[in-house]
Amino acid sequence: MALKVGMLTSGGDCQGLNSTMRGIARGLLGSNQDVKILGFFNGYHGLMYSNYRHMTDVDFSGILTLGGTILGTSRQPFKLMHDPLREDEPEGITKLEAMLQTYQDLGLDALVVLGGNGTQKTANLLSEHGCNVIHMPKTIDNDLSGTERTFGFQSAVNIATEVIDGIHTTATSHRRVFIVEIMGNKVGWLTLYSGVASGADVILIPEIPYDPIEIVKTLHDREKKNKNFSIIAVAEGAISKEEANMKSSEIKENRKETHSVAYHLQNQLQELMIQETRVCVPGHFQRGGTPTAYDRVLTTELGVEGANAILEGDFGKMIGISCGRPIRVDIKDVAGKTKKVPMDDPVLMSARQIGICFGD
Ligand code: F6P
Repeated sequence: MALKVGMLTSGGDCQGLNSTMRGIARGLLGSNQDVKILGFFNGYHGLMYSNYRHMTDVDFSGILTLGGTILGTSRQPFKLMHDPLREDEPEGITKLEAMLQTYQDLGLDALVVLGGNGTQKTANLLSEHGCNVIHMPKTIDNDLSGTERTFGFQSAVNIATEVIDGIHTTATSHRRVFIVEIMGNKVGWLTLYSGVASGADVILIPEIPYDPIEIVKTLHDREKKNKNFSIIAVAEGAISKEEANMKSSEIKENRKETHSVAYHLQNQLQELMIQETRVCVPGHFQRGGTPTAYDRVLTTELGVEGANAILEGDFGKMIGISCGRPIRVDIKDVAGKTKKVPMDDPVLMSARQIGICFGD
């Protein structure tokens, strides 16, 4: 009997989704087992509605360098999994029940889900309900617990770094302060790494609430040393010290005119100094395009380890990386846990030591 393996990509996309699927598929199809792969379209939505196609070796050819996901993706909030599948049938089956039904009807032996935090929580739920789940840790945010790296992160670091590099030259020409807003949701990994890689003068991350006065002091110090431009890399989730004591609704209200943190910060700085400031928000560009060589290697390694876990029947695992080696972590132990930048992170500490301001 063939081993039937379902596969889906869920949540925000990133670089390395296709190369991960290629690694898993090649690892499975190259084994001595008869394996059938079913690819579900648009994340958990495809599993709910049994919307899939059979995939063969050729489907995984030529996709190592391809960005995005060949299966499509969607956001299916975890908190809605017990809600009815169809709004017009409130008494009908729930989204969770619909997924379990598809799993059973198709006779799946395993389900591989590629996704971030929310995806992982749903993967855990499916696992608790008897599905044989393998989770592959995807996100540019690098915020999943139990793994040192998520795939997509390093590719996004490269893009964000290139953006800030480009901004550096124009900032220098015009003697301006530039605020570059970097993605990362509620954590600062992407901003920290791209900020350090591009020589940002100020790095603001959610884990360290900032004081605008401290930032202005740094900018003035630079001016005094005839460094007439400055770069501030700010994480989209960064908050000020004042906001750290507020509820999220109050923070929203506080920023109602600007919405994004970068424009909010620009207003705060302009009240305190005369140097011209500009904002750059590269946004989803950071998630696009081809994976870096690092991510191609990482996803191949993780993909093959995922395939091995399936072949060995070792389920309920996230395939992570630790000390450069693939590891299998129980999904139940990490689901719902966000990995923030710790204050003793070596990159953070090195950045502080070379004089980068964190606004505290
Ligand atoms: O989780 C990845 C991420 O790109 C975050 O960095 C960002 O906050 C969010 O997704 C953006 O979500 P969406 O694609 O739904 O706009």
